[in-house]
Amino acid sequence: MNPVIKNLVEHYSERSFLNKAIPDEVLDRIIETAYRAPTSVNSQQVSVIVSRDAEARKKIAELAGGQPWIAQAPVFLTLVLDMYKTQQGMALNGEQQIAHNSVESLISGSTDVGIALASIMSAARSEGLGIVPIGGIRRDPEAIVHLLDLPEHTFPVAGVVIGYVDRPSERKPRLPMQTFRHEESYQREGLENHIQHYNDRLMQHWQSVGRGEGLNWSESMGAYYKNIYYPAVCPALLKQGFKFDK
Ligand SMILES: Cc1cc2nc3c(=O)[nH]c(=O)nc-3n(C[C@H](O)[C@H](O)[C@H](O)COP(=O)(O)O)c2cc1C
Repeated sequence: MNPVIKNLVEHYSERSFLNKAIPDEVLDRIIETAYRAPTSVNSQQVSVIVSRDAEARKKIAELAGGQPWIAQAPVFLTLVLDMYKTQQGMALNGEQQIAHNSVESLISGSTDVGIALASIMSAARSEGLGIVPIGGIRRDPEAIVHLLDLPEHTFPVAGVVIGYVDRPSERKPRLPMQTFRHEESYQREGLENHIQHYNDRLMQHWQSVGRGEGLNWSESMGAYYKNIYYPAVCPALLKQGFKFDK
């Protein structure tokens, strides 16, 4: 297996970090991978906010609902969907942006953020660091906007913790490949069985890592998706000047 593919398939999230600084040149290399990532229509509608200050990370850890690894690790990156930058670019040409009023822009911007996030995660892991992506910054997005002084038409979509690992985590099993890879058209057949099989497999995983209280996948999805996970997102997006009527 070539080293790039090995790095990607061996992904897992870490949640225990050492209080050890990341050298500037290492962080620079990691961020450059996201900076060079592709973006929809070359919009470059992504910005990264680097939080190294311990107080700021502590605050983000609290805002994310009490996630101690954010405060523990030396670096937290917030990936921002940035349509302020595009608006400024158009204004130079005397034009007014309306794209931020569309669901399409949210999808394209969030896709671009996701690509940047993926680059950061694999780059960091290739430098011997551990990572955990953080959607918890959307729990109270308005407070994050305030903390990071984000302008209108921007939104903190996701973050990522980067640091040297203290107690390594375990690789989590996935649903069977047949539920993920579909040849030519979507294959519904057998899905229920595959999920049932995975429910058992995940429970075995939790037992083996000493987390007998872990939920199977059906239970876990129920716990998250029977509600709107982060209901503050929609009002915060509106407050940032986004709309979804186009
Ligand atoms: C966009 C995104 C947001 C996430 N948010 C959080 C989070 O806020 N806190 C956390 O501990 N893990 C978070 N995770 C990590 C997932 O829980 C994790 O990827 C998933 O359980 C699979 O485990 P693995 O990454 O170890 O394979 C997030 C992952 C993604 C992709």
